[in-house]
Amino acid sequence: MVAIYYHDNLDTPENFTEDHDSGVPVPEDRLAEIGVFYRYIDNMDELEQVAKDRDYKNRDQIALNLDTFKGDQSAFDAKMAQFYKEHYHEDEEIRYILDGEGFFDVRDPQDRWIRAKLNKNDLLVLPAGIYHRFTLSKRLQYVKAMRLFKDEPKWEAINRDEGRDTEARVEYLRSVTSAA
Ligand code: LAC
Ligand code: NI
Repeated sequence: MVAIYYHDNLDTPENFTEDHDSGVPVPEDRLAEIGVFYRYIDNMDELEQVAKDRDYKNRDQIALNLDTFKGDQSAFDAKMAQFYKEHYHEDEEIRYILDGEGFFDVRDPQDRWIRAKLNKNDLLVLPAGIYHRFTLSKRLQYVKAMRLFKDEPKWEAINRDEGRDTEARVEYLRSVTSAA
């Protein structure tokens, strides 16, 4: 079951997989206001219905842990660093957690990090253009997720340090002006 809270911003390159719970919870409604769709889904019929409603025609599965990299710690660390770098995509990022655990951090309109801690049966849809980052938890260091998508997803990560505002970013900002 999801936990949603403000990140404590005390992360370092050594401890970023810890919980970093500031102790200030964020209501689930707030996610919707900033264009993030969350739902707990424990049966395939409901997942199929959501996929149909939102026109997600395709899907695949990914696993992430040290084993994914055949025990190559530096390759694993490099991937973890990449996922934790603040970025957005020009399409939605949709994850349905099948096993394990992961932290998705999204920026709110005040540029604060809202953290969603996801476990099995949590579905999260990040809108195109929202700045976010991801990490495994220190506790499990493992996630298995289904990725859903429409046609050919544009999953290129546009890192914040590039400062590149594509149409998807501009459109996202327009969509949340009332949530500020
Ligand atoms: C991604 C997640 C990790 O872009 O944000 O795949
Ligand atoms: Ni991403």
